[in-house]
Amino acid sequence: NFANQFFQMIFSEILIFWYKKNKRELPWRNTKKPYFIWLSEIMLQQTRVTQGMSYYLKFTENYPTVSDLANASETEVLKMWQGLGYYSRARNIHFTAKYIAHELNGKFPSTFKEIITLKGIGDYTASAIASICFDEPTAVVDGNVYRVLARYFGIQTPINSSAGIKEFKELAQSLLDKTQPGTFNQAIMDFGALVCKPQNPLCDECPLSESCVALQKNLTKDLPVKEQKIKVKKRYFNYLVVVSNDDKTILTQRNDRGIWQGLYQFPLIETDKNINEKILISSTEFIDLFPDETSISLFNPKEIIHKLSHQHLHTHFWIVETASHKNAEIPWKTIQNFPVPVLIANFLVQFQLKK
Ligand code: ADE
Repeated sequence: NFANQFFQMIFSEILIFWYKKNKRELPWRNTKKPYFIWLSEIMLQQTRVTQGMSYYLKFTENYPTVSDLANASETEVLKMWQGLGYYSRARNIHFTAKYIAHELNGKFPSTFKEIITLKGIGDYTASAIASICFDEPTAVVDGNVYRVLARYFGIQTPINSSAGIKEFKELAQSLLDKTQPGTFNQAIMDFGALVCKPQNPLCDECPLSESCVALQKNLTKDLPVKEQKIKVKKRYFNYLVVVSNDDKTILTQRNDRGIWQGLYQFPLIETDKNINEKILISSTEFIDLFPDETSISLFNPKEIIHKLSHQHLHTHFWIVETASHKNAEIPWKTIQNFPVPVLIANFLVQFQLKK
């Protein structure tokens, strides 16, 4: 509607007005050559502008055209990339340079749709090249854009969720100044890098502060929201369930901080992968615990995977029959008095049924 359009115009005009006065003078800001813009945008991913600059100058000097880059050896390209990190970026630009030089006659594709098919180029880079070099109205969304939009509009959707990725892309696209997309895209990124900074944003000098939701609601520090992508750790547990011939067992209390602090469990041998009986009984932990003869059998041939929020416990219960044992002090019939993890409680139910 009209009000929306009006508002979008104002948002982009304020940003572009700010940009024209405050933009950073960067070597790739004086060109529209897609090869140069592509190099700069790949180099600036996961890299600060100040760090990327010298690499950009070195690359464009040594490889002034995409064909020069294509004709270099991969080793030479990697060497020139050395210190910039994320080396798959260097291998991809070399691969794509060869593709453009040899399959496309050295001509860089000129639409978002074609550009995004190139190896190593995703939505962000394709939008940057298409808008900056070819004036195609397609909005970029990088970390700066997420931050500016999340704060200004007070958006709580996690920026790394699929809903968030869609929402922010659509919003950026709706705000884009379609008559100067390259300028708008670089304006919002520079604004994010210089004013709406991750830490200590310069709200006092921000030209958008009067209508910024985060500033009004004091949410600047909390936005943007990022979903915790927790990495699940796999652990391999071997519980030794002692059954002595006087019907006692061993329980130990977990004293370490972390999971199950204070709970009781059977003696545990943790390994870095699933192990068989032979490896188990020849381990020093097993021999220390059972220097005398035992009879051992695996209770659950199929591992039990107990899932906690941050870790998956791949668990085997081993039944160890012994003569009376100095540490086996817990009569089996009192075992239900001990607080145990659910993993152990579940086992006990199964075990008592079979016993
Ligand atoms: N960060 C990465 N590319 C950029 C660009 N073209 N302008 C501003 N910041 C950027």
